[in-house]
Amino acid sequence: MEKRIITTEYMEEEGRFENSLRPKLLTEYIGQSKAKETLKIYIEAAKLRGEPLDHVLLYGPPGLGKTTLAQIIANEMDVNLKVTSGPAIDKPGDMASILSKLNDGDLLFIDEIHRLNRQVEEVLYPAMEDFEIDVVIGKGATAKSIRIELPKFTLVGATTRAGMLTAPLRDRFGVVNRLEFYTVDELEKIITRSAHVLGIDIDTEGANQIARRSRGTPRIANRLLKRVRDFAQVKYDGNITKDIAAKSLDMLEVDKYGLDNTDRRILIQMIDKFGGGPVGLDTLAASIGEDSGTIEDVYEPFLIQNGFLARTPRGRIVTETAYKHLGLS
Ligand code: ADE
Repeated sequence: MEKRIITTEYMEEEGRFENSLRPKLLTEYIGQSKAKETLKIYIEAAKLRGEPLDHVLLYGPPGLGKTTLAQIIANEMDVNLKVTSGPAIDKPGDMASILSKLNDGDLLFIDEIHRLNRQVEEVLYPAMEDFEIDVVIGKGATAKSIRIELPKFTLVGATTRAGMLTAPLRDRFGVVNRLEFYTVDELEKIITRSAHVLGIDIDTEGANQIARRSRGTPRIANRLLKRVRDFAQVKYDGNITKDIAAKSLDMLEVDKYGLDNTDRRILIQMIDKFGGGPVGLDTLAASIGEDSGTIEDVYEPFLIQNGFLARTPRGRIVTETAYKHLGLS
């Protein structure tokens, strides 16, 4: 029987199930070799024993393939996937309801799991550990608690911030994988694969040019590929070469390291207003009108990894590399 993917409204709204570009099996998945190799073994072992996979936590910056990996795990285990997110579940009863509707072997994917509130999270502890939950029926003096047995399911949790998970939740995941930024080489392969899926003409150097400017992130690579295709079709002959990719990306204001307007705004603001730092995250966020969580999760990891920004005990500082890149002194 064809296995189902059940998405909550949240996923459909976000349009994140753009399935055509997502690899379906581990062998099609490019990059993240460490996570891939360990998962392959755990999946094979679980299948040999005829048991569900242990609960899996995936963490790392957004766009690196956490949702894709959850889908792949479900495909490889040949089980149903149910998708939801931390902020979408606001009452313990909602969590109990989701859990009690699962079937044996099902995979439950909770994105942004660090955003579950404490009461909801507490429903998960016995569910993950013993596959049971306690549900309170009725109110006041007549209220009573009944225990419900759950099917043996696998929870896959995803978060951009492993540090924000509580210890009791983190400790209940048997498999923990950190996803890393992709290399230019890996992104080039992903772009070539996506171009093939979408029927886009691109040569190796065109793919390389987009890969270099994708901030180590497949989601960005695929987005840029589509935008460059628009330029290639409207302004040129539709074929993406190095030159056309470079010109299009310049027009999109994505520079040769992949920094976009917001990245540059962060760095320039730090230099202009705070003498290059150190400056605290909240102060910086307020001064450029961005959410501090977005800066911390989305922008900062790449800027730090690539040496444009550094963290010190007294706050963030801009590095020499950033000054040079921006042509400032
Ligand atoms: N598309 C998006 N991410 C991918 C990956 N890691 N491998 C292959 N195709 C992808």
